[in-house]
Amino acid sequence: MIEQRFPATRMRRNRMQDFARRMTREHRLAPADLIQPLFVAEGDLVGPVASMPGIQRRAIDALCTECARVHALGIPAVAIFPVLPAAEKNARGDSALDPEGLVPRAIKAVKQAVPELGVIVDIALDPFTDHGHDGLLRADGSIDNDATVEVLTRQAILYARAGADVLAPSDMMDGRVGALRTALERDGRFDTLILSYAAKYASGFYGPFRDAVGSRTALIGDKRSYQMDPANGDEALREIALDLREGADWVMVKPGMPYLDIVARAKAEFGVPVAAYQVSGEYAMLEAAAAAGALDRRRAIMESLLCFRRAGADMILSYFAAEAAEWLAEPGA
Ligand code: PBG
Repeated sequence: MIEQRFPATRMRRNRMQDFARRMTREHRLAPADLIQPLFVAEGDLVGPVASMPGIQRRAIDALCTECARVHALGIPAVAIFPVLPAAEKNARGDSALDPEGLVPRAIKAVKQAVPELGVIVDIALDPFTDHGHDGLLRADGSIDNDATVEVLTRQAILYARAGADVLAPSDMMDGRVGALRTALERDGRFDTLILSYAAKYASGFYGPFRDAVGSRTALIGDKRSYQMDPANGDEALREIALDLREGADWVMVKPGMPYLDIVARAKAEFGVPVAAYQVSGEYAMLEAAAAAGALDRRRAIMESLLCFRRAGADMILSYFAAEAAEWLAEPGA
């Protein structure tokens, strides 16, 4: 850093007029930075998510309509999350492997309706298990890592064959990225991207999502034996290093706003595409504060998204993505 001294340097000169502020702005937000998470459901599970005002669980045809709108706004990709009825869940999460299941059908429909839109799907068992965990449980209630990875690999290949562009393992089992990459190579799927939820924390900010997919009331215990301790930063870099070595193309930090230090460290350390997920609890928090009149809603949302860019995120998963892209399209935005 150069040495600066007042009054030769008056920092406020750069801030005095709008033209200069625009010319000295270091980071910008664009629709291409955003990924829209979307929930897909059927029957009477279709409808609003109570703890996420403005968020819908959509039937496949409505999902396709929304995907077309998202694509037209310049957003490159969506992340699809299934909501299953309790009757289709069991301890082994068997419906995750159903070739006619909700996710493969949704992938096919979206790729047919909007072929250029990137389709990202979660690889994890929690929408399909009646205990709400991302993995398989042993009799004593502990997670069986390696048995889970085998099932996840089959789930991943099923989704890749259905046309998913990006597989996003969100389960935090050890070794799953390598297993997925090996299976994709064996299946001749050399172009399928892996977006690893590499640094996913055991967070209190996932509550509304678990409401949305119906895994909250069911969840027995917590996810601290596989998701990361919020106290840890170095460990995130080790997770990311492993996933990159195993074949991840992109790595994710999750949640978002409280973990921007991890985003910055990941970008600085590895220089790979880094995604950050502004999760359901962050969405609910901003919405609640805005509804209470405590925040200027649009201003707070746009600031939160821009700060991900400043921290180093190349991609931002946010439930605000489409609305932010609409705002960015306004003249003078
Ligand atoms: C599950 C999964 C979760 C989210 C994305 N994938 C929840 C969890 O780990 O319990 C959370 C997303 C959000 O809160 O918006 N594998």
